[in-house]
Amino acid sequence: MAKKIKRIGILTAGGDSPGLNAAIRGVGKTCLGFYGMELVGFRDGFRGLVENKRLKLDKTTLAGILTVGGTILGTSRDKPHRMVIDGRTKDMTKTIVDNYHEWGLDCLVCLGGGGTQKNALRLHEAGLNVITLPKTIDNDVAMTDATFGFATALDIATETIDRLHSTAHSHHRIIVAEIMGHRSGWLALGSGIAGGADVILIPEIPYDVEHIADAIKRRSRNGTNFSIVAVAEGAMSRDDARALLAAEKKLERARTLHDKKEAKIALASLEVRHTGNTMRLAKHLEELTQLESRVTILGYVQRGGTPSAADRILATRLGSACGDLINEEHYGVMVAARGDGTEPVPLEKVAGKRKSVPPDHSWVTTARRVGTCMGD
Ligand code: F6P
Repeated sequence: MAKKIKRIGILTAGGDSPGLNAAIRGVGKTCLGFYGMELVGFRDGFRGLVENKRLKLDKTTLAGILTVGGTILGTSRDKPHRMVIDGRTKDMTKTIVDNYHEWGLDCLVCLGGGGTQKNALRLHEAGLNVITLPKTIDNDVAMTDATFGFATALDIATETIDRLHSTAHSHHRIIVAEIMGHRSGWLALGSGIAGGADVILIPEIPYDVEHIADAIKRRSRNGTNFSIVAVAEGAMSRDDARALLAAEKKLERARTLHDKKEAKIALASLEVRHTGNTMRLAKHLEELTQLESRVTILGYVQRGGTPSAADRILATRLGSACGDLINEEHYGVMVAARGDGTEPVPLEKVAGKRKSVPPDHSWVTTARRVGTCMGD
């Protein structure tokens, strides 16, 4: 009897990032061209699996996408188990499982960051053959050396810091540059080192604003009256970090529904208070140093545009290794980057974990050695 041709589904979920199309192409070319499988793309993350929004991926649709930013499939932050359908939040896991079988899929490939790893594990536990690829500009997915998107965002953030230097220098100002990264500091730390920021603030090292002001004043006394502060969007003062930790602990300890609800409200209000933190920090530094301060929020430009060569290589490597794993029917794993190679890591070991910057990481030590103030 002829062997059934494998039919693979693929989707991109969470925030977009450079390299997603390169990864889709890597998976696609390996599965179609090398192994003779079929490939179906689902639009807008997990929602495409519920609303039957699909697109057959063939040689033509995969052509010319290697260099294109964003994702040809579209993306969303929808979760299978909590999806808004007709204005109501519903658990759509069973619908997804039924559709997967009805459409004759043999495997679902999910390209995404930390949230996607958790959602993929849920679908794997519901009985689907799932493989994931680690994508995010934040570089915070556990158990992989790297995530695609990070290298490109690092280049963009570094170039921005380079450009801020000349204007900060001309006006004798402090420029506080807010860099993405969610709760991790990889992007701010990397671009801060590469761009020669004078101060780098990351969530993993809570800061004391007086210490930052002292470092800036020291520079002024030595004749340099401008400073670049690279601040991760999740960076916070020691007081705020303490309050957040206490709120998180309270949520962990909460046993009743009422206590859980209260703890979640407290946590959410702290997160809301964090919005605008960079503006407050700049104002505070202006007061303490008497130097004019300005803020630049890099925002979504960090996620846009064509992927760098490093990201194209990484995404293609991970994508093609994914094709090999599908051929071997090795499911329930994330394709991790490991040195020059790749490694399948069980989703249970990845989901719900975050790769933070260890405070003694060599990048942190290096930054300190060259005189960068880390805010502590
Ligand atoms: O995870 C990537 C990221 O860009 C984070 O750095 C940022 O905190 C978040 O996504 C922004 O999410 P959204 O696109 O939903 O505004």
